[in-house]
Amino acid sequence: MKDILDELEARRETARAGGGERRVEAQHAKGKLTARERVELLLDEGSFEEFDMFMAHRCTDFGMEKDRPAGDGVVTGWGTVNGRMVYVFSQDFTVFGGSLSETHAEKICKIMDMALQNGAPVIGINDSGGARIQEGVASLAGYAEVFQRNIMASGVVPQISLIMGPCAGGAVYSPAMTDFIFMVKDTSYMFVTGPDVVKTVTNEQVTAEELGGASTHTRKSSVADGAYENDVEALAETRRLIDFLPKSNREKAPVRPFFDEPGRLEPSLDTLIPDNPNQPYDMKELIGKIADEGDFFEIQKDYAANIITGFIRIEGQSVGVVANQPMVLAGCLDIDASRKAARFVRFCDAFEIPILTLVDVPGFLPGTAQEYGGVIKHGAKLLFAYGEATVPKVTVITRKAYGGAYDVMASKHLRGDFNYAWPTAEIAVMGAKGAVEILYRSELGDKDRIAARVQDYEGRFANPFVAAEKGFIDEVIMPHSTRRRVARAFAALRGKKLANPWKKHDNIPL
Ligand code: HXC
Repeated sequence: MKDILDELEARRETARAGGGERRVEAQHAKGKLTARERVELLLDEGSFEEFDMFMAHRCTDFGMEKDRPAGDGVVTGWGTVNGRMVYVFSQDFTVFGGSLSETHAEKICKIMDMALQNGAPVIGINDSGGARIQEGVASLAGYAEVFQRNIMASGVVPQISLIMGPCAGGAVYSPAMTDFIFMVKDTSYMFVTGPDVVKTVTNEQVTAEELGGASTHTRKSSVADGAYENDVEALAETRRLIDFLPKSNREKAPVRPFFDEPGRLEPSLDTLIPDNPNQPYDMKELIGKIADEGDFFEIQKDYAANIITGFIRIEGQSVGVVANQPMVLAGCLDIDASRKAARFVRFCDAFEIPILTLVDVPGFLPGTAQEYGGVIKHGAKLLFAYGEATVPKVTVITRKAYGGAYDVMASKHLRGDFNYAWPTAEIAVMGAKGAVEILYRSELGDKDRIAARVQDYEGRFANPFVAAEKGFIDEVIMPHSTRRRVARAFAALRGKKLANPWKKHDNIPL
């Protein structure tokens, strides 16, 4: 009996050693952790239960039958993050470069199937040279099996991808279909075709980092949602994100203990809005003052900064925040901002996370670049996302809410539940100057007259009361009481039930 136990231990040791000491050292030398080290840091200590540790590939080409490492280049299983279950796979670059074989894919599919059945998030740690070259089409089939599961799991369980090494070719499409992608600066990259192919086809010369590094994907392409300094930080932040999310669409997000008075008043907010309506202020200050303990987990911080998206808690409950940022492009909506916020709103709605919208928007960004880029279709994404969302929606207009952007930003007309405005709100078709220039074109030569017209327009429309008279604004609130009002609004909405008409699925303007 002892021999059998010893053999099991010996087999486990071999499997845990991955591609051997030399390759592990090479991994560390690049500043990367190993697949198992990553799993250990991601999960609560001692909580990891591994599956398929001894699974090996079945390839017999290119002499592969002589090299069948246990585990086949991916560590899979489940564990807990702050006590809540998650499924995880972590590609082991030290074994065949973490490349995906038929069996490697089977291991990933197995935990994805279990995650879907048992209702728990899937966290995929990607560090792979792509399709296992020796396996050919079997590997491509493996990818497609994973893709299909990503699609089926979308909106059912949260899916998070960590890119911690190479992720190239068709392999990028699995992370691309997950809810959030986090990358590590300098050691990870994602692209469909690498620098060599790019050089051949378009004659452009770029490094892998320029083409698909963390900075590129968090600033330019918006493929990734966050970039971190190293593996440890990325894993710690993933744990933080998981804490905001429900395990599946069958459950509510967890309620965490909070150490912050829901009725906390913030007198400083009464002077947040500058006297000059064209002067910006930092909307993040308001978010911080509404959130429990000022804690804010921002998504896509470095992309389309004219809109802010992320998670906070109010009375311990997760809330998704969408807010215009007057500090960037005056808070205008544009193509990038609309796409970013629409995807975030849809995530929140899919997972029953209530949405808080903070509005200070002068309208959609004008210009040929926007029109040629399809701002009509992209702007409609955000409109559509808000309009279809059935989760509790609380909106606070702090200053400008002009034109179509007023409608889009979770207005009453898109089934906003509580629509508040600060006394400084200006809800109108457009700013006073623009409106007067159109209405009184013939008087444009007379500066005094125009100034009087602007003043008159401002007096009549640059306030929240016209909208409040019509019931489009439920209440004009004092800025200092925003946290209390918002907390009470969400508390009042805990029993909200709203369903859209049956359909196979909608046809959001993609
Ligand atoms: C089999 C692979 C492999 C692969 C790497 N290895 N990629 N084995 N299939 N795809 C092995 C190497 O042979 C090597 O083995 C070990 O992994 C480490 O690789 P190195 O090249 O030494 O590492 P590094 O210098 O860091 O370079 C990493 C790399 C490079 C940039 C990823 O390995 C590379 O370019 N690999 C090929 C990438 C590729 O073309 N993949 C197919 C893409 S098509 P030893 O034994 O020496 O340690 C694709 C399509 C997916 O993925 C389609 C889905 C629909």
